[in-house]
Amino acid sequence: MRGLSFSSWPPTKLLLLLLLSLRPAWAPVPTGIAPSKPPGALKCPEACTCSVGGQANCSALGLLSVPAGLSRPVHTLLLDHNRLYTLPPVAFEGASALYLLDLRKNGLRSVDARAFWGLGALQLLDLSANQLETLAPGTFAPLRALRSLSLAGNRLALLEPAALGALPGLRALSLQDNALSALEPGLFAHLPALDALGLRGNPWVCGCALRPLCVWLRLHPRAPEAETLLCMSPGRLTLTPLTAFPDDAFRHCAKHLAARDLAVIYALGPLSFLASLATCLALGSAITACRARRRRRHHPAARRPPRPPDLAGPAAVSEPESEAAPPAQA
Ligand SMILES: *[C@@H]1O[C@H](CO)[C@@H](O)[C@H](O)[C@H]1NC(C)=O
Repeated sequence: MRGLSFSSWPPTKLLLLLLLSLRPAWAPVPTGIAPSKPPGALKCPEACTCSVGGQANCSALGLLSVPAGLSRPVHTLLLDHNRLYTLPPVAFEGASALYLLDLRKNGLRSVDARAFWGLGALQLLDLSANQLETLAPGTFAPLRALRSLSLAGNRLALLEPAALGALPGLRALSLQDNALSALEPGLFAHLPALDALGLRGNPWVCGCALRPLCVWLRLHPRAPEAETLLCMSPGRLTLTPLTAFPDDAFRHCAKHLAARDLAVIYALGPLSFLASLATCLALGSAITACRARRRRRHHPAARRPPRPPDLAGPAAVSEPESEAAPPAQA
């Protein structure tokens, strides 16, 4: 400890150096001498911790809204365990290269249909353990690069195909622990790459509405946990595995469809189209005829009032609107 004597020069220098190097830890560096960041450096939202790799860690900070200041270099945004109860339109503005977005456990109740606008590069989205009951049509439509979506642990009783839209690259969709009793017929139509579907913990009702799901399960025999999916109702089918229904089991559903719904579709569809077309045409021509007649009838009266004598001269005749007018008075 003798070396730390203040009377000798080198230790004092050392101490000074030490203090200087510690400085940023306890005093804010004046902006004037802050080292300038290279272009494209991660602009970290205040309150979050950012890493060079492009990760913004905003986990468990009690945040009530998405932090401002997101920038393009942010590739991973961890917002789990906060209090983002709603997501407004274009909620992640600036983070246009986002790859992973973690929104687990936020008490999320509503997501604006335009919340995910601008996230065309997003591949992994985790919305699990929230309180979503519905999702607006088009919510996930901008996420054209999405590969994995988790909606597990919400309160969804219905998942409209329009909410997902066409997601050509979606491989994994987790819907477990929701309130789903069936899946809509069109749900799988625009998810061609889907091969992992989490379905456990839903009150499946084994009726005609379950057909799309049973068809999908048959086409994907290696889907995880398929064997563990059980009907919750109706009574006589309770606890029957979903995979126990061959396509034959739905034959009566198909007939039902053909008999009534198809007739309605085939009859009403074209008829209503033709009817509305005819109505539009009739209305359009009536309006046009009326206008034309009125213009013809009122044209002389609609002309501008006669000018004072000093302005009404040969110049007035050369004006364009006077060409359809009755011959100028002599
Ligand atoms: C994010 O930060 C929290 C606390 O600030 C930490 O517990 C957690 O491990 C971090 N997550 C990652 C993936 O670095």
